Amino acid sequence: MPVTPKVGIIGGTGFDDPDILKNRKEKKVSTPFGDPSDALILGEINGVQTVLLSRHGRKHDIMPGNINYRANIWALKEEGCTHIISTAAVGSLQEQYKPGELVLVDNFVDRTTNRKQTFYDGEPGHPVGVTHIPMEPAYCQQTRALILKLAKDLNVEIIPKGTVVTIEGPRYSSKAESNIFRSYGAHIIGMTQVPEVVLAKEAGICYANIALVTDYDCWRESGEKVSVAEVMKTFSENVNKVSSFVLAVVARIGQENWDATINELKETVKGAIMLPKS
Ligand code: ADE
Repeated sequence: MPVTPKVGIIGGTGFDDPDILKNRKEKKVSTPFGDPSDALILGEINGVQTVLLSRHGRKHDIMPGNINYRANIWALKEEGCTHIISTAAVGSLQEQYKPGELVLVDNFVDRTTNRKQTFYDGEPGHPVGVTHIPMEPAYCQQTRALILKLAKDLNVEIIPKGTVVTIEGPRYSSKAESNIFRSYGAHIIGMTQVPEVVLAKEAGICYANIALVTDYDCWRESGEKVSVAEVMKTFSENVNKVSSFVLAVVARIGQENWDATINELKETVKGAIMLPKS
């Protein structure tokens, strides 16, 4: 039997409107890692089973460093999600990544300092063993290819790749830091990609992130520096574009065969786990 895809959508700042789902119902869940950011919203997009989760909580009261990423990913896995499409607002570290543009993220640099990045931590009730999950590719290649093809078909402009630096936050970067991140060759900057992408891979879920550039951070000599007001402004000007594209992505996921990709992911995870010696 081919795998029937089920898609988790992790909505970042402002991208968590439950109206995008048909026949929706709320489900409160708990996990061995604690509670996810909010209730899961179960529903359908074009006949594809979909689960919506607000990354910061629907009240937007959970800051990036306090998000329970493990509970979020575990809850989506338990709900049967084979895929996660996540959205995020990001700053730009390169002139050509302009505010208002979408980026299909393909790599990350981790500058977080205080986040749990594995389910396999040796705690009672958690999965047994130690895991060294490979991070290349960090993002699901079949899902990324589907998104790029769909963007072309729909005439949606999306920058096909970008490396995101994830900072701990909640503060924005200093100018010196912003320039250091530029020197890494990174393109965009945010606060939530790590450990979300890492844990999704450990859970064997096909994960892709569509980022919306909201600002130029603070490295440029002139022009606006990043601020909450600027992020929210660019965001509200573009939210409909992002939502309607994500809807189309979910519908298209329902039309592809995922057996080989999911099997390969499963094998990668299996090969990454070191069980205790008996
Ligand atoms: N999210 C949106 N813009 C950002 C920036 N400049 N730095 C970190 N996170 C962001």
